[in-house]
Amino acid sequence: MQSTVIAPSILSANFARLGEEVDNVLAAGADWVHFDVMDNHYVPNLTIGPLVCEALRKHGVTAPIDVHLMVEPVDRIVPDFAKAGASMISFHPEASAHVHRTVQLIKSHGCQAGLVLNPATPIDVLDWVLEDLDMVLLMSVNPGFGGQSFIPSALEKLRRVRQMIDRTGKPIRLEIDGGVKADNIAEIAAAGADTFVAGSAIFNAPDYADVIGKMKAAVKG
Ligand code: DX5
Ligand code: ZN
Repeated sequence: MQSTVIAPSILSANFARLGEEVDNVLAAGADWVHFDVMDNHYVPNLTIGPLVCEALRKHGVTAPIDVHLMVEPVDRIVPDFAKAGASMISFHPEASAHVHRTVQLIKSHGCQAGLVLNPATPIDVLDWVLEDLDMVLLMSVNPGFGGQSFIPSALEKLRRVRQMIDRTGKPIRLEIDGGVKADNIAEIAAAGADTFVAGSAIFNAPDYADVIGKMKAAVKG
């Protein structure tokens, strides 16, 4: 099992002062910055692209930037995100015609590669590519919006993917995204997640350090 990572999703941050929000959440104990990219095509919402990622790097953000691509097609935008300072790039298999090729493309640009499974996407999509991945990201909401409720079937899915990862013996992260809160993160961790995205639970809280501290304490048990 990998070390615990809390990755606030900046989708719920105040975009009018994004640099300051990211500085504050990192100072409050966040480990990564989760960066949700939506194209109004693969998902019904439109957010941010490589320019904003680059702006955060120029602002001085040195923490890992965890880019979650909800775009179709995927490959065209990968080099731009690598150049913009992405640390890891995750994509949905439904949005790529050649999943293995996209994984190799991400790695060839010096980034870690993740595959994202929607709530109804079967886990057997991992069968022939898992060992090439640095991370599996399980969606516990349907992608497109922050602030949705955690879908409980994600717990069983986490348990099954945790077993698959453990069988490889490789340091592959298991990330969960959607509806993660201080009061459900313990059972999510117990099901096998080591990397936790949380948007509204952190950015809607009055004290970022308080909520991140509660999340880390709950994971430790
Ligand atoms: C949804 C995004 C999530 C989302 C999480 O498509 O991938 O990262 O912003 O937000 P919360 O934690 O509010 O569910
Ligand atoms: Zn996300």
